[in-house]
Amino acid sequence: NKGKYEHYMQKEIHEQPESLTTTMRGRLIRGGSCKAKSVLLGGIKDHLKTIRRSRRIVFIGCGTSYNAALASRPILEELCGIPVTMEIASDLLDRLGPIYREDTVVFVSQSGETADTLLALEYALENGALCVGITNTVGSAIARNTHCGVHINAGCEIGVASTKAYTSQIVVMVMLALAIGDDTISNQTRRESIIDGLFELPSKVREVLKLDQEMKDLAKELMSEQSLLVFGRGYNYATALEGALKVKEVALMHSEGILAGEMKHGPLALVDENLPIVVIATHDACFSKQQSVIQQLHARKGRLIVMCSKGEASLVCPGGSCRVIEVPQVVDCIQPVVNIVPLQLLAYHLTVLRGYNVDQPRNLAKSVTTQ
Ligand code: UD1
Ligand code: M6R
Repeated sequence: NKGKYEHYMQKEIHEQPESLTTTMRGRLIRGGSCKAKSVLLGGIKDHLKTIRRSRRIVFIGCGTSYNAALASRPILEELCGIPVTMEIASDLLDRLGPIYREDTVVFVSQSGETADTLLALEYALENGALCVGITNTVGSAIARNTHCGVHINAGCEIGVASTKAYTSQIVVMVMLALAIGDDTISNQTRRESIIDGLFELPSKVREVLKLDQEMKDLAKELMSEQSLLVFGRGYNYATALEGALKVKEVALMHSEGILAGEMKHGPLALVDENLPIVVIATHDACFSKQQSVIQQLHARKGRLIVMCSKGEASLVCPGGSCRVIEVPQVVDCIQPVVNIVPLQLLAYHLTVLRGYNVDQPRNLAKSVTTQ
């Protein structure tokens, strides 16, 4: 039931304040006078000791689920102090890459039925690793065949383009980092500030959804373009990849997510006054580096659309020479949840304006059950 919405993708984008609330329900502990704020993930609590002792955490997924894991990697590294590596399921299988008994392997999948991810799970089980699932579908193959895991509880997602599952996956993986890192005193203040940020996140997402009309206007400007680049780095490298994936899969427009740190190693050659470029430059530890990327794109007359933290337009766009999307600022590691929303809205409006099928893009299936 689409309710008041025209398409499932639109409905699922707009219901993110609620889906995120459900994802966190019962899992964040507010703490009290002598009790610290903490996270409780019932599905993995008995396995935390083993996870903390593992030599490596390996994330495996495809498409959007891979991007969600990538968004969460920095906070896992920071809070857990365990090396974290990333694998696209098909690529791991192509290489038969090393997976060891001492590894914790985390399988991320909305449907829990993706063939490549399932085959990678079989492979990791054969190699004796602890296998953890993060899925939206209770009773799915991944939920059944992993040793333990966490349901993201985002509610049924119908649109082929994954939207609310992405933001809930990130939140679950941030909670996973908080749970694994729970045994170190030195991170306590940082952990508590992230938990505070999680409590506020649904209302921040509600706020960023107000950009709907602005994104529709931007879509009108961009609807006849051939291509759109999205630059991000740090926590928001994944936002660049995921924003570009949305535009590509539903609006059928070429789009590429680019790691801003790689700009001078090739992509800069593409820049001219016609090609639209979204630069994600919300305020975090990479901010000054992003400012200098913007300056360099600007020097090549790049057609810039900059996403920045509210009130910082003048820091990213001196002289008002570019289009600015201002978003509410949240704790750095959950900023990707806020930042993807305007790009989801942009992809949605581009698709409607270009006259394509929003919920079932050509050639794609919601759940890819063949290799
Ligand atoms: C569980 C209940 C929830 C209840 C709550 C109360 C289910 C599905 N969840 O939620 O209804 O309100 O307790 O305490 O009944 N698992 C995997 N692989 C996966 C995902 C999950 O093995 O990919 C396993 C978990 O290890 C766990 C079980 O499935 O044993 C349920 O996981 P989850 O729903 O995340 O647990 P809770 O949040 O505790
Ligand atoms: O169900 P899964 O999360 O395993 O699906 C993985 C990908 O097929 C999926 O995320 C795909 O990239 C989406 N269509 C993206 O919107």
